[in-house]
Amino acid sequence: MAGREVFGDEEIKEVVDVLKRKVLFRYGFDKEREGIYKVKEFEDEFKKYIGSRYALGVSSGSSALKIAIESLNLPKGKEIITQSFTFVATVEAIKESGFKPVLCEIDKSLNIDIQDIERKITKNTVAIIPVNMMGCSGKIDEVIKLAKSRNLKVIEDNCQSTGASYKGKKLGTFGDIGCFSFDYVKVMTTGEGGMIVTDDEEIYKQAEYYHDHGHPHLPNLSRGEEKRMREGFNFRMNEIQGALGIVQLKKLPEIIKMQKENKKKIKEGIKDINGIEFREIPDPEGDIATFLTFYLQTKEKAEKFKEKMRENCVNPAILNYWHFIANIEIVGGDFPKSREILDKMVSIEIKTIMTDNEISKIIDVIRKVAKQII
Ligand SMILES: Cc1ncc(COP(=O)(O)O)c(C=O)c1O
Repeated sequence: MAGREVFGDEEIKEVVDVLKRKVLFRYGFDKEREGIYKVKEFEDEFKKYIGSRYALGVSSGSSALKIAIESLNLPKGKEIITQSFTFVATVEAIKESGFKPVLCEIDKSLNIDIQDIERKITKNTVAIIPVNMMGCSGKIDEVIKLAKSRNLKVIEDNCQSTGASYKGKKLGTFGDIGCFSFDYVKVMTTGEGGMIVTDDEEIYKQAEYYHDHGHPHLPNLSRGEEKRMREGFNFRMNEIQGALGIVQLKKLPEIIKMQKENKKKIKEGIKDINGIEFREIPDPEGDIATFLTFYLQTKEKAEKFKEKMRENCVNPAILNYWHFIANIEIVGGDFPKSREILDKMVSIEIKTIMTDNEISKIIDVIRKVAKQII
């Protein structure tokens, strides 16, 4: 599932090009950079690809979330709803920004349980962060409808699903603001890095200021002379990340296509096994196929299944601690529905490049283990 698998001469050339010009900073140095602004170019290409009016390159997906929350200028101390099953960064970003994280259960799509959002909304709720987990969304349009009906802001955490869509519309563009991650294990990578997208000019400006100490980035004025627009911090993307992003974005459609083919072959090879239930994916077309996930009937069977897979040298994805338990450690509470779903889950990561032998081995091992366990 990783852009790093397709690193090649194109990435090397782009990075060397930046190094030769010796300008690593995204702003200023206009003479030295010979009119070349890599982060800006990456943002322009990214917003075209995603279909948003604005895009802002940032230092990571975690910082994208923090900036997104700050850019909305919501009253501090209020509640922001997200889901129990998400990488810990979502919950950390809410806390770091001075809000109270409120967690919801997930459903069998591994995404936020919409009925539970209804239950968790209080007079103190100001925003919802639905997280498009493991390559696809749940019924994100329904989440948006609910949020709008209650006058709540939506920040889409799309860090795990760059390039995915729902009913033809790219994920990350459903809410008021969308967040992306390009860390080293993601479907496209800039080593570390992230992006924010929005259609709202004011939100974009607030994000732009916040991510760089409050700088307005005015043309024809040096940084030192600029007025501070608001409080902020440093979450800037640099030119090497921008250069890598341009190349990786060009490769993304092919990466997704390859992953979809690999996933389809594996799924075809195991779909007749009795006793496994595939993850619910409301729009399979929009899935970027980073994982193939199914559920067994009990926790015990799922644990045994994963143990036997390991014994046969096929590693299941590990998504329980940093994506669930850690969040509960921070927030507290009990999430029996999510726990049950996650306890019964078996998931494998789909690589971008897989040989027929690798695919056959995974199918054979899953079939063999299923015979022993189910
Ligand atoms: C759902 C989710 N949100 C946020 C992040 C944070 O992204 P980064 O590693 O770029 O900080 C991740 C990273 O794995 C993630 O999976």
